[in-house]
Formats: sequence, structure tokens, C-alpha cells
Amino acid sequence: MWRPDGSNDWSDSDMTAELDPATLRDAFGHFPSGVVAIGADVDGTRVAMAASSFVSVSLEPPLVAVCIQNTSTTWPRLTEAAAIGISVLGESHDGAARSLASKTGDRFAGLTTTTSVSGALFVDGASVWLDTQVEQEVPAGDHMMVLLRITDLQVREDVDPVVFHRSSFRKLHRAAG
Ligand SMILES: Cc1cc2nc3c(=O)[nH]c(=O)nc-3n(C[C@H](O)[C@H](O)[C@H](O)COP(=O)(O)O)c2cc1C
Repeated sequence: MWRPDGSNDWSDSDMTAELDPATLRDAFGHFPSGVVAIGADVDGTRVAMAASSFVSVSLEPPLVAVCIQNTSTTWPRLTEAAAIGISVLGESHDGAARSLASKTGDRFAGLTTTTSVSGALFVDGASVWLDTQVEQEVPAGDHMMVLLRITDLQVREDVDPVVFHRSSFRKLHRAAG
């Protein structure tokens, strides 16, 4: 059997990992991702959370998705908004990614934000802004897969995204050649 290190002596009988949450979280963490801020202005209050489960889904219609923990207290508040902003966080946003996930304190400490006419909330200095509306929520185990339809967008070519990998934030490096 093929093995991640390239060797092939990993027999089927070795496939006995316990599929407990800690093991799965560690395995999933080996897949690098970006981090987005999901935000909205809800009755004049800025509401946002960080998410690394963002994925592009469809061009026609324009859809993206995020997976939200069923225990999230922020997501139900965001769904009260008419529009939801997705900001692809930049390489200087590693601290922002942590504070936007904090249970206590000011999630927007050190951040400036912009609210679109739709009410979507964006983090300034992000690589991409997507103005979205919830298209569909699909139950998926202990998470909800949320499909979001893009209604507008803005891209900043000069900002590289932050990379999240195994609980650490990294910067992109172009491969030699
Ligand atoms: C880098 C990073 C990525 C995260 N990705 C997700 C995610 O994809 N989905 C999710 O539900 N929570 C994710 N979180 C956790 C939320 O940002 C946040 O901590 C959680 O929603 C807080 O609970 P609350 O929703 O009750 O406020 C992530 C946190 C960090 C730091």
C-alpha cells in the first residue's frame, strides 16, 4: 500500500487508527488551507468568526462553502444578516485569525473593517472580499456545510494569503524554478 513518505510497506493491517476527534483533527490539520473571516453587520454590531474550512464550489452559479461547528454561537447571529462577507485573510493577519476566533475579548482588536451596502462585513487588508448570501445549509455530522452565493467581489493582487497548517500560520513561498 502507498504511504505518505513514498514507501510502500504499509500493509492493510496497519490501518487501525482510532478515529477519535483528536486523531482526526490532527490528520485534517496536515491539509494546508487559507483562513477566512466570515462577518456581517447585525443590527449595528460587528459579528465575525474565523474559518479555515472555506472552499470554492461553483462558477455557475457562483458558490463557495464553509463548514460551521453545530456548537457555534456566532453562526446563528450571522444568519440574521441580509448578507455575509467573506474575507480571505492576508499573510499579516495571523493575529487577526486568532482574535476572530476568541471566545472572550474584542474579536476586532487591531483590525479595521469595511461594511458594504448589503451589510456584509469585511476585514481591511484581506486578499479577497466576497459579498455573499446563504444559499443552502446542509447538516454534516457535528458541522453544517453552508453554501454561500457570491453577489459581488473584490480582489487585491498585491496581498498574499495567510496559510494555516497543523495549528500554525505560515507564509507562502514560491517554489524555486
Ligand atoms: C484558524 C482557525 C480556523 C477555524 N476554522 C473554523 C471553521 O472552519 N469552522 C468553524 O466552525 N470554526 C472554525 N474556527 C473556530 C471559530 O473561529 C470560533 O473559534 C468559534 O466559532 C467560536 O465559537 P462561537 O462560534 O461560539 O463564537 C476556526 C478557528 C481558527 C483559529
